[in-house]
Amino acid sequence: TPRVFSGIQPSGGLTLGNYLGAIKRFADMQEAGGHQTIYCMVDMHAITVWQDPAALTRNTRELAAGYLAAGIDPERSILFNQSRVPEHAQLAWIFNCVARMGWMGRMTQWKDKAGKNAENASLGLFAYPALMAADILVYHATHVPVGEDQKQHLELTRDIAAKFNHDYGVEFFPMTEPVIEGTGTRVMSLRDGTRKMSKSDPSDASRINLTDDADAIARKIRKARTDPDPLPQDYKALDGRPEARNLVNIFAALRDISTDAAMAQVGGQNFGEFKPMLADLAVEKLAPVSAEMARLMNDPAEIDRIMARGAERAREIAAPILAETYRITGMIG
Ligand code: TYM
Repeated sequence: TPRVFSGIQPSGGLTLGNYLGAIKRFADMQEAGGHQTIYCMVDMHAITVWQDPAALTRNTRELAAGYLAAGIDPERSILFNQSRVPEHAQLAWIFNCVARMGWMGRMTQWKDKAGKNAENASLGLFAYPALMAADILVYHATHVPVGEDQKQHLELTRDIAAKFNHDYGVEFFPMTEPVIEGTGTRVMSLRDGTRKMSKSDPSDASRINLTDDADAIARKIRKARTDPDPLPQDYKALDGRPEARNLVNIFAALRDISTDAAMAQVGGQNFGEFKPMLADLAVEKLAPVSAEMARLMNDPAEIDRIMARGAERAREIAAPILAETYRITGMIG
């Protein structure tokens, strides 16, 4: 059966981008059925840049609460914390020996995050995509739902699988399919329609956090940067208007409709009409999620119990795949 895997870093609060580009779609894939769904808090990825230990613990629980609040059912899906399934790190070491320095050096996320000061970046940050490939391939996952920004990492995952298979003369690791579909896979900053919405943007006004209250959501959307023209009738006419297009994409993703259907509803509107309507919609969709997150956070022991059970189930799948990988590579004992 097809197997879905994806992960999110517990490195700070969740944004509307994480919700529309990832968590909501993860829940949709669980509901669609027909495949096993495995979702992860990737704490080992988070520590590639400094994380305060207490904050990491809290963010991991909060992310678990976010998954659960958005509809991930820990019975139907496997939900766990990466570091508690050591097979990820074990396979990642083998992939560190398969992947080439040059491949890693070409990753745009590495270049963005390490910047001009690569000498001072952690070795883990450089090797990050090999761990990500291990996350996916230790389950032989076939489908990986992600936002647009992870596309290059998923291509590298295929390169690593192909090189492993080729070097050892096996057909062992599958060629994973990225699933980057719908209008929520590239949510942009509310201050600059050419940059992605990100939890690390210094301006809080650039993003909607899942923990924002109704007033904050409404204020941020009201103040979102736009141009003076009303919305066109046709989605294509939003070319060259990145801020306007972003708000239409957010509208379509929140409503779960196509961009054409969205234009049929909002084409011709001024931002004076459109923004308050979008703010109401965002509050209507996000308020129940953030309320449920807050409720779940009152019982951290229950969250820990769910994560521990998820890790056990994940290991049942990962352990035999790692064992076979060791056998293929000739590692005995
Ligand atoms: P991370 O933690 O940065 O983001 C988690 C997910 O949210 C998506 N996302 C967005 N989608 C739309 N618009 C945005 N503005 C936006 N910002 C973030 C991301 O594309 C991602 O799907 N390397 C990954 C985590 C990871 C992973 C994996 C993912 C580790 N191992 C294995 C898939 C499979 C990351 O840093 O995502």
